[in-house]
Amino acid sequence: MEIHLEKLTWDTVDAVLKLRVSKEQKGFVAPNSDSIIDAYFALTEEGKNVFPFGIYNGKKAVGFLMIGYHCAWRENLDFAKNSYYIWRFMIDKRYQGNGYGREALRRAVDFVRTAPCGKAEYCWLSYEPENTVARALYLSEGFEERPELCGEDEEIPAVLKL
Ligand SMILES: CC(C)(COP(=O)(O)OP(=O)(O)OC[C@H]1O[C@@H](n2cnc3c(N)ncnc32)[C@H](O)[C@@H]1OP(=O)(O)O)[C@@H](O)C(=O)NCCC(=O)NCCS
Repeated sequence: MEIHLEKLTWDTVDAVLKLRVSKEQKGFVAPNSDSIIDAYFALTEEGKNVFPFGIYNGKKAVGFLMIGYHCAWRENLDFAKNSYYIWRFMIDKRYQGNGYGREALRRAVDFVRTAPCGKAEYCWLSYEPENTVARALYLSEGFEERPELCGEDEEIPAVLKL
């Protein structure tokens, strides 16, 4: 297994747009097309730094992961300021359960540790309360849940100290 992240390009985006989660997982992550649109507006309207990546097993696109910097969907997420956010993350339903997600998450944290937008104290992410697979994965990789910061019907934030 050789899992790595590659910056999306004109040439690689089509394969990533074809990747899908299962029907039951659709509430856990936006479609990749929506994520790329979000990246465009974060960049052009808000001047944010945003890094959309394909996740590859060798030459095969198996997933998508997008990192943002200095993004918060709530005022009280103090750790979000000047921090990195794993905004979107998915492995295509055909390739799940092979260890690709865990490896990709590690590669994402490696990327964040290179400080592409400057040194930060935290990397954070969020997930639906019902998303037990993602939650267990994040906690086992050292993220700490901050449920007290989560409003009703909101995703639960979790933070990794860099
Ligand atoms: C979360 C996700 C990215 C994990 O990707 P993956 O490639 O399947 O993950 P891995 O194979 O590396 O497995 C990671 C852990 O989850 C467990 N796992 C994976 N799929 C599972 C399933 N369907 N049921 C139970 N456990 C599962 C694995 O056993 C592994 O745990 P272990 O190391 O203790 O054995 C993937 O399930 C996914 O894309 N889900 C839909 C979108 C989503 O929820 N994204 C996250 C939004 S916050």
